[in-house]
Amino acid sequence: MIICRTKQQLRHALREERTKQPSITTGFVPTMGYLHEGHASLIRQSVRDNDITVLSIFVNPLQFGPNEDFDRYPRDEQRDLLLAENNGADIVFMPTVEEMYPIKPLTRLTVDVVTDRLCGASRPGHFDGVGVVVSKLFHLVQPQRAYFGMKDAQQVAVIQRMTDDLDMPVEIVPCPIVREPDGLALSSRNVYLSAEERLQALVLSKALSEAKELGEREGLTVEGLITQLSSMIRKSPLADIDYIELLAYPDLTPLPGEEAVKEVQGTLLLALAVRFGKTRLIDNRILSFVEVESHV
Ligand code: PAF
Repeated sequence: MIICRTKQQLRHALREERTKQPSITTGFVPTMGYLHEGHASLIRQSVRDNDITVLSIFVNPLQFGPNEDFDRYPRDEQRDLLLAENNGADIVFMPTVEEMYPIKPLTRLTVDVVTDRLCGASRPGHFDGVGVVVSKLFHLVQPQRAYFGMKDAQQVAVIQRMTDDLDMPVEIVPCPIVREPDGLALSSRNVYLSAEERLQALVLSKALSEAKELGEREGLTVEGLITQLSSMIRKSPLADIDYIELLAYPDLTPLPGEEAVKEVQGTLLLALAVRFGKTRLIDNRILSFVEVESHV
């Protein structure tokens, strides 16, 4: 496995591979490090689909708000490199902030509408920062395919739309959420949770699992479903709800609150963000009640 800390080293390593074998396909897994089994599953999928796999590890300051956890975001380079190697990554790109942004970037990349709600609303500017770094990384790596976890379903929708709008020649491959055996969605931020917060956080996956059955009840409206899920989550005293929303996916447009859930057509995203102490967790589920066509 080749480790590149500069853009020049990355370009050189890729050029070598592509000169040896001009037709090779490159899969790309962008991450912020502190890797877990969710990231490992993305690397393995890329290894299965492509000739070489590039992993990036970069905690991108542009996507953190002023009161967010950029400084304390967990980092463990040695552990990450071991996980990358054990799962078959060929090249790891791990630049510093100065390497990635030698001058303060003045460019912002805004994808409208799909960022209006969910994390786009509660973390202003977050997806502009994601857009800038992901497009920079796509330019550097020039992959045929890029792999993203569906835990950040809105991020997948934003990046898909960005690549479509800008004719970026990259196939975006959404990959399933990986969970602990007890249901908690894997996240690098789970490490912040105390034992009690972690226990109470299990209510999120439980609420999401019950949503399909609830939504199938006669006459339950979109608003009614959200109310029921909110009260289920509020039974955990440490849960502080940021949002719970049911939206059309991947457009992320709102549904009429008074519509009966089981009559809503198409693919839907039920997404939530809930704080336990200082830790904000997100989770979601893709649902369909009346099948039209599936986008995922
Ligand atoms: O999902 C993440 O870890 C980040 O948002 C990404 C895509 C690596 C961009 O910094």
